[in-house]
Amino acid sequence: MSQEINGTEPVATRRNAGEPESSRASRGWWDRNADDYQNDHGAFLGDDRFVWGPEGLDEADAALLGPAAALNGLDVLEIGAGAAQCSRWLAAQGARPVALDLSHRQLQHALRIGDGLPLVEADAGSLPFRDGSFDLACSAYGAVPFVADPVRVFREVRRVLRPGGRWVFSVTHPIRWAFPDEPGPEGLSVAASYFDRVPYVEQDEEGDAVYVEHHRTLGDRVRDVVAGGFRLVDLVEPEWPSWNDQEWGGWSPLRGNLIPGTAIFVCERE
Ligand SMILES: C[S@@+](CC[C@H](N)C(=O)[O-])C[C@H]1O[C@@H](n2cnc3c(N)ncnc32)[C@H](O)[C@@H]1O
Repeated sequence: MSQEINGTEPVATRRNAGEPESSRASRGWWDRNADDYQNDHGAFLGDDRFVWGPEGLDEADAALLGPAAALNGLDVLEIGAGAAQCSRWLAAQGARPVALDLSHRQLQHALRIGDGLPLVEADAGSLPFRDGSFDLACSAYGAVPFVADPVRVFREVRRVLRPGGRWVFSVTHPIRWAFPDEPGPEGLSVAASYFDRVPYVEQDEEGDAVYVEHHRTLGDRVRDVVAGGFRLVDLVEPEWPSWNDQEWGGWSPLRGNLIPGTAIFVCERE
Protein backbone atom coordinates (compact mmCIF):
# COMPACT_ATOMS: atom_id res chain seq x y z
CA MET A 1 0.00 0.00 0.00
CA SER A 2 2.91 2.31 0.79
CA GLN A 3 3.31 5.45 -1.27
CA GLU A 4 5.60 8.36 -0.45
CA ILE A 5 4.08 11.42 1.20
CA ASN A 6 6.16 14.60 0.87
CA GLY A 7 9.12 12.45 -0.13
CA THR A 8 8.86 10.20 2.93
CA GLU A 9 7.76 6.57 2.92
CA PRO A 10 4.94 5.92 5.43
CA VAL A 11 5.70 3.46 8.21
CA ALA A 12 3.52 0.34 8.43
CA THR A 13 2.47 -0.66 11.92
CA ARG A 14 -0.37 -2.28 13.87
CA ARG A 15 -2.19 0.00 16.29
CA ASN A 16 -5.67 1.19 17.14
CA ALA A 17 -7.26 3.78 14.88
CA GLY A 18 -10.70 5.18 15.69
CA GLU A 19 -13.43 6.32 13.34
CA PRO A 20 -12.33 9.95 12.70
CA GLU A 21 -8.69 8.99 12.11
CA SER A 22 -9.66 6.08 9.83
CA SER A 23 -12.04 8.24 7.83
CA ARG A 24 -9.47 11.03 7.45
CA ALA A 25 -6.79 8.54 6.36
CA SER A 26 -9.11 6.89 3.83
CA ARG A 27 -10.16 10.16 2.26
CA GLY A 28 -6.54 11.28 1.88
CA TRP A 29 -5.29 7.91 0.64
CA TRP A 30 -8.02 7.47 -1.96
CA ASP A 31 -7.68 11.07 -3.14
CA ARG A 32 -3.93 10.58 -3.62
CA ASN A 33 -4.25 7.09 -5.14
CA ALA A 34 -7.44 7.27 -7.21
CA ASP A 35 -5.53 7.98 -10.43
CA ASP A 36 -3.23 4.96 -9.95
CA TYR A 37 -6.17 2.76 -8.90
CA GLN A 38 -8.17 3.59 -12.02
CA ASN A 39 -5.05 3.30 -14.24
CA ASP A 40 -4.16 -0.09 -12.80
CA HIS A 41 -7.63 -1.62 -12.50
CA GLY A 42 -9.94 0.42 -14.76
CA ALA A 43 -9.56 -1.93 -17.73
CA PHE A 44 -10.32 -5.02 -15.59
CA LEU A 45 -13.31 -3.33 -13.96
CA GLY A 46 -14.63 -2.01 -17.27
CA ASP A 47 -16.54 1.26 -17.45
CA ASP A 48 -19.94 -0.31 -16.93
CA ARG A 49 -19.52 -3.78 -15.49
CA PHE A 50 -20.39 -4.76 -11.92
CA VAL A 51 -17.38 -6.74 -10.65
CA TRP A 52 -17.43 -7.91 -7.03
CA GLY A 53 -13.65 -8.27 -6.59
CA PRO A 54 -10.30 -9.35 -8.05
CA GLU A 55 -11.65 -12.81 -8.94
CA GLY A 56 -13.82 -11.05 -11.51
CA LEU A 57 -17.19 -12.38 -10.31
CA ASP A 58 -19.69 -10.37 -12.33
CA GLU A 59 -23.12 -9.38 -10.98
CA ALA A 60 -24.53 -10.11 -14.45
CA ASP A 61 -23.77 -13.81 -13.73
CA ALA A 62 -24.03 -13.93 -9.94
CA ALA A 63 -27.34 -12.03 -9.52
CA LEU A 64 -26.67 -11.45 -5.82
CA LEU A 65 -28.88 -8.36 -5.91
CA GLY A 66 -31.65 -10.45 -7.49
CA PRO A 67 -32.40 -11.19 -11.13
CA ALA A 68 -31.13 -8.41 -13.41
CA ALA A 69 -34.58 -8.11 -14.99
CA ALA A 70 -36.02 -7.23 -11.56
CA LEU A 71 -33.65 -4.27 -11.07
CA ASN A 72 -35.65 -2.10 -13.46
CA GLY A 73 -37.09 0.91 -11.63
CA LEU A 74 -35.36 0.21 -8.29
CA ASP A 75 -33.57 2.87 -6.24
CA VAL A 76 -30.07 1.58 -5.48
CA LEU A 77 -27.35 3.05 -3.30
CA GLU A 78 -23.76 2.11 -4.14
CA ILE A 79 -21.38 2.73 -1.25
CA GLY A 80 -17.66 3.33 -1.81
CA ALA A 81 -18.46 3.50 -5.51
CA GLY A 82 -15.05 4.68 -6.76
CA ALA A 83 -15.54 5.58 -10.44
CA ALA A 84 -19.12 4.20 -10.25
CA GLN A 85 -18.65 1.32 -12.68
CA CYS A 86 -21.20 -0.81 -10.78
CA SER A 87 -23.74 2.03 -10.74
CA ARG A 88 -23.33 2.39 -14.49
CA TRP A 89 -24.19 -1.31 -14.95
CA LEU A 90 -27.19 -0.90 -12.63
CA ALA A 91 -28.42 2.08 -14.65
CA ALA A 92 -28.15 -0.02 -17.82
CA GLN A 93 -30.56 -2.52 -16.19
CA GLY A 94 -33.07 0.28 -15.66
CA ALA A 95 -32.28 0.88 -11.96
CA ARG A 96 -31.86 4.37 -10.46
CA PRO A 97 -28.44 4.21 -8.78
CA VAL A 98 -26.81 6.81 -6.56
CA ALA A 99 -23.02 6.45 -6.33
CA LEU A 100 -21.54 7.53 -2.98
CA ASP A 101 -17.87 7.79 -2.11
CA LEU A 102 -15.69 9.54 0.45
CA SER A 103 -13.05 10.47 -2.11
CA HIS A 104 -13.48 13.52 -4.30
CA ARG A 105 -10.85 12.23 -6.72
CA GLN A 106 -12.56 8.87 -7.17
CA LEU A 107 -15.80 10.68 -8.01
CA GLN A 108 -13.94 12.85 -10.51
CA HIS A 109 -13.11 9.60 -12.31
CA ALA A 110 -16.82 8.78 -12.28
CA LEU A 111 -17.42 12.16 -13.95
CA ARG A 112 -14.59 11.53 -16.43
CA ILE A 113 -16.19 8.24 -17.56
CA GLY A 114 -19.37 10.27 -17.49
CA ASP A 115 -23.07 9.67 -17.99
CA GLY A 116 -24.90 11.92 -15.57
CA LEU A 117 -25.24 9.49 -12.68
CA PRO A 118 -26.06 11.09 -9.32
CA LEU A 119 -22.78 11.21 -7.35
CA VAL A 120 -22.58 11.95 -3.63
CA GLU A 121 -19.39 12.72 -1.71
CA ALA A 122 -19.98 11.49 1.84
CA ASP A 123 -18.82 9.07 4.52
CA ALA A 124 -20.61 5.72 4.68
CA GLY A 125 -20.95 6.19 8.44
CA SER A 126 -23.28 9.14 7.99
CA LEU A 127 -25.47 8.78 4.92
CA PRO A 128 -27.08 12.03 3.70
CA PHE A 129 -30.43 10.45 2.74
CA ARG A 130 -33.88 10.26 4.27
CA ASP A 131 -35.09 7.03 5.89
CA GLY A 132 -36.38 4.45 3.42
CA SER A 133 -34.93 6.07 0.30
CA PHE A 134 -33.61 2.92 -1.43
CA ASP A 135 -34.73 -0.56 -2.44
CA LEU A 136 -31.17 -1.98 -2.54
CA ALA A 137 -27.69 -1.12 -1.35
CA CYS A 138 -24.40 -2.55 -2.56
CA SER A 139 -20.70 -2.13 -2.19
CA ALA A 140 -17.80 -3.80 -3.99
CA TYR A 141 -14.92 -3.43 -1.54
CA GLY A 142 -16.12 0.10 -0.76
CA ALA A 143 -15.86 1.57 2.74
CA VAL A 144 -16.50 -1.56 4.86
CA PRO A 145 -12.85 -2.80 5.04
CA PHE A 146 -11.71 0.70 5.98
CA VAL A 147 -14.08 1.73 8.76
CA ALA A 148 -13.47 1.28 12.48
CA ASP A 149 -17.17 0.81 13.23
CA PRO A 150 -18.86 -1.31 10.54
CA VAL A 151 -22.03 -1.69 12.64
CA ARG A 152 -22.52 2.07 12.40
CA VAL A 153 -22.34 1.80 8.60
CA PHE A 154 -24.75 -1.15 8.55
CA ARG A 155 -27.26 0.72 10.75
CA GLU A 156 -27.05 3.68 8.39
CA VAL A 157 -27.62 1.40 5.40
CA ARG A 158 -30.58 -0.18 7.21
CA ARG A 159 -32.06 3.26 7.93
CA VAL A 160 -31.96 4.37 4.28
CA LEU A 161 -33.29 1.04 2.96
CA ARG A 162 -36.97 0.18 2.61
CA PRO A 163 -38.21 -2.90 4.52
CA GLY A 164 -37.04 -6.14 2.92
CA GLY A 165 -34.30 -4.35 0.97
CA ARG A 166 -31.06 -6.18 0.19
CA TRP A 167 -27.62 -5.02 1.30
CA VAL A 168 -24.84 -6.86 -0.51
CA PHE A 169 -21.19 -6.00 0.13
CA SER A 170 -17.82 -7.54 -0.65
CA VAL A 171 -14.68 -7.31 1.47
CA THR A 172 -11.27 -8.91 1.61
CA HIS A 173 -11.87 -12.44 2.86
CA PRO A 174 -10.98 -12.44 6.59
CA ILE A 175 -8.64 -15.44 6.22
CA ARG A 176 -6.32 -13.24 4.16
CA TRP A 177 -5.39 -11.32 7.33
CA ALA A 178 -3.28 -14.26 8.47
CA PHE A 179 -1.17 -14.30 5.29
CA PRO A 180 1.36 -11.77 3.92
CA ASP A 181 -0.27 -9.55 1.30
CA GLU A 182 1.89 -10.97 -1.49
CA PRO A 183 0.71 -12.59 -4.73
CA GLY A 184 3.58 -15.13 -4.93
CA PRO A 185 4.58 -18.17 -2.84
CA GLU A 186 5.61 -15.90 0.06
CA GLY A 187 1.89 -15.12 0.41
CA LEU A 188 1.04 -18.76 1.12
CA SER A 189 2.37 -19.19 4.65
CA VAL A 190 0.50 -18.04 7.73
CA ALA A 191 2.42 -15.14 9.26
CA ALA A 192 -0.03 -13.51 11.67
CA SER A 193 -2.91 -14.45 13.91
CA TYR A 194 -6.30 -14.54 12.23
CA PHE A 195 -7.71 -13.53 15.61
CA ASP A 196 -5.67 -10.34 15.98
CA ARG A 197 -8.05 -7.45 15.29
CA VAL A 198 -5.49 -4.66 15.77
CA PRO A 199 -5.79 -2.53 12.60
CA TYR A 200 -3.11 -2.30 9.90
CA VAL A 201 -1.99 1.32 9.84
CA GLU A 202 0.47 3.24 7.70
CA GLN A 203 1.51 6.49 9.33
CA ASP A 204 3.49 9.56 8.38
CA GLU A 205 6.43 11.17 10.21
CA GLU A 206 4.06 12.82 12.70
CA GLY A 207 2.47 9.49 13.51
CA ASP A 208 -0.79 10.38 11.74
CA ALA A 209 -2.47 7.52 9.90
CA VAL A 210 -2.39 7.82 6.10
CA TYR A 211 -3.90 4.38 5.39
CA VAL A 212 -5.97 2.14 7.65
CA GLU A 213 -7.47 -1.29 7.17
CA HIS A 214 -9.64 -2.93 9.81
CA HIS A 215 -9.82 -6.68 10.27
CA ARG A 216 -12.92 -8.57 11.36
CA THR A 217 -13.08 -12.36 11.55
CA LEU A 218 -15.80 -14.14 9.62
CA GLY A 219 -17.75 -14.54 12.87
CA ASP A 220 -17.34 -10.83 13.67
CA ARG A 221 -18.74 -9.91 10.27
CA VAL A 222 -21.79 -12.15 10.77
CA ARG A 223 -22.41 -10.63 14.22
CA ASP A 224 -21.98 -7.11 12.78
CA VAL A 225 -24.54 -7.83 10.06
CA VAL A 226 -27.04 -9.03 12.68
CA ALA A 227 -26.26 -6.10 15.03
CA GLY A 228 -26.87 -3.76 12.09
CA GLY A 229 -30.42 -5.09 11.77
CA PHE A 230 -29.97 -7.49 8.85
CA ARG A 231 -30.56 -11.16 8.19
CA LEU A 232 -27.68 -12.96 6.47
CA VAL A 233 -29.04 -14.68 3.35
CA ASP A 234 -25.78 -15.94 1.84
CA LEU A 235 -22.03 -15.73 2.20
CA VAL A 236 -20.35 -16.10 -1.18
CA GLU A 237 -16.65 -17.01 -1.47
CA PRO A 238 -15.88 -16.72 -5.20
CA GLU A 239 -13.42 -19.29 -6.52
CA TRP A 240 -10.65 -18.11 -8.80
CA PRO A 241 -11.86 -18.73 -12.38
CA SER A 242 -9.54 -20.34 -14.95
CA TRP A 243 -9.95 -17.40 -17.39
CA ASN A 244 -8.51 -14.89 -14.91
CA ASP A 245 -4.71 -14.65 -15.17
CA GLN A 246 -4.47 -11.15 -13.65
CA GLU A 247 -2.83 -10.25 -10.37
CA TRP A 248 -4.37 -7.50 -8.27
CA GLY A 249 -2.07 -6.58 -5.39
CA GLY A 250 -1.89 -9.67 -3.20
CA TRP A 251 -4.67 -11.43 -5.15
CA SER A 252 -3.31 -13.83 -7.76
CA PRO A 253 -4.22 -17.03 -9.60
CA LEU A 254 -1.66 -18.89 -7.45
CA ARG A 255 -3.23 -17.87 -4.15
CA GLY A 256 -6.77 -17.69 -5.50
CA ASN A 257 -6.69 -21.38 -6.34
CA LEU A 258 -5.77 -22.23 -2.72
CA ILE A 259 -7.42 -19.72 -0.39
CA PRO A 260 -10.42 -17.43 -0.73
CA GLY A 261 -9.67 -13.78 -1.48
CA THR A 262 -13.11 -12.20 -1.27
CA ALA A 263 -16.16 -12.63 0.95
CA ILE A 264 -19.52 -11.32 -0.26
CA PHE A 265 -22.27 -10.89 2.32
CA VAL A 266 -25.82 -11.00 1.02
CA CYS A 267 -28.09 -9.46 3.66
CA GLU A 268 -31.73 -8.46 3.93
CA ARG A 269 -33.18 -5.71 6.05
CA GLU A 270 -35.30 -7.13 8.86
C1 LIG B 1 -11.19 -0.58 -3.14
S1 LIG B 1 -12.03 0.88 -3.61
C2 LIG B 1 -13.45 0.19 -4.39
C3 LIG B 1 -14.08 1.13 -5.36
C4 LIG B 1 -15.14 0.50 -6.26
N1 LIG B 1 -16.23 -0.05 -5.51
C5 LIG B 1 -14.49 -0.55 -7.14
O1 LIG B 1 -14.91 -1.72 -7.08
O2 LIG B 1 -13.58 -0.20 -7.90
C6 LIG B 1 -12.68 1.45 -2.05
C7 LIG B 1 -13.51 2.73 -2.16
O3 LIG B 1 -14.15 2.97 -0.90
C8 LIG B 1 -14.11 4.35 -0.63
N2 LIG B 1 -14.23 4.56 0.83
C9 LIG B 1 -13.32 4.24 1.78
N3 LIG B 1 -13.79 4.56 2.99
C10 LIG B 1 -15.01 5.10 2.79
C11 LIG B 1 -16.01 5.64 3.67
N4 LIG B 1 -15.82 5.68 5.00
N5 LIG B 1 -17.15 6.09 3.13
C12 LIG B 1 -17.36 6.07 1.79
N6 LIG B 1 -16.45 5.58 0.91
C13 LIG B 1 -15.30 5.11 1.41
C14 LIG B 1 -12.78 4.80 -1.21
O4 LIG B 1 -12.74 6.20 -1.42
C15 LIG B 1 -12.69 3.98 -2.48
O5 LIG B 1 -13.23 4.64 -3.58
